[in-house]
Amino acid sequence: MRILFLGDIVGRTGREAVIARLPDLRRSLRIDLAIVNAENASHGFGLGADIARNLFDAGADVLTLGNHAWDRKDIIPFIAQTPRLIRPLNYPPGTPGQGAVMVPLPDGRKALVIQAMGRLFMDPLDCPFRGIADVLGSHRLGASVQAIFVDFHAEASSEKMAYGHFLDGQVSCVVGTHTHCPSADTQILPNGTGFQSDAGMCGDYDSVIGMGKGEAVTRFWRKTPGEKLQPAEGVSTICGVFLETDDATGLAKRIAPVRQGGRLAETMPPVE
Ligand SMILES: [Fe+2]
Ligand SMILES: [Fe+2]
Repeated sequence: MRILFLGDIVGRTGREAVIARLPDLRRSLRIDLAIVNAENASHGFGLGADIARNLFDAGADVLTLGNHAWDRKDIIPFIAQTPRLIRPLNYPPGTPGQGAVMVPLPDGRKALVIQAMGRLFMDPLDCPFRGIADVLGSHRLGASVQAIFVDFHAEASSEKMAYGHFLDGQVSCVVGTHTHCPSADTQILPNGTGFQSDAGMCGDYDSVIGMGKGEAVTRFWRKTPGEKLQPAEGVSTICGVFLETDDATGLAKRIAPVRQGGRLAETMPPVE
């Protein structure tokens, strides 16, 4: 199975780039399943229902969220009726939406997409390790489901690497989100799980993690609140991860970073 995961969309420039390029990326990489982290797609904070619909229309099969999940209030009724929009599984019981979704592909194969959120330097949620173990207890990779993809939304690369090793061999891939900076640790872990500690963002890299650099820099050095942070509006780099799995085992055969457009050095997996 060929999976494309795109990291946090930030603001208008990020979502316009994803909407414009996702159809071509799907075609050129022969993607079976496209997953997009959209927690910052509405003006850098949260996701509105209108933009979620546009991203699904552009070819996203599943949208994931993160700590900005509830910044836009209209997402709460929307997530309740949209199973393919998921939020971290370790919110308290009773939180709207789900932390996982099973996606049947047109050819009959099935993929499980899961999101969890880390706790180091983040809101103190329920345990993401115990939470995902509960979800995985009812699925068998390579038997009841051909691929399991995990978006781990977390700040600390230590917690992300620990999560990857914790899940190594049980899921197809663990990719981190939230830092908005793509990491260069793309690999297949020893037991067959694809891993990259952060996918990077789909946004303008002439910025401070996607937000206007002037105001963001001032906040750090003056230590006084100034203008509201606004998303940077320059040309976006699309950042993500390409994964190819073995249907028989559900494990990773190939993993490669994807970066296209904007300021970062481009990289694209060869089409095989
Ligand atoms: Fe984000
Ligand atoms: Fe985040």
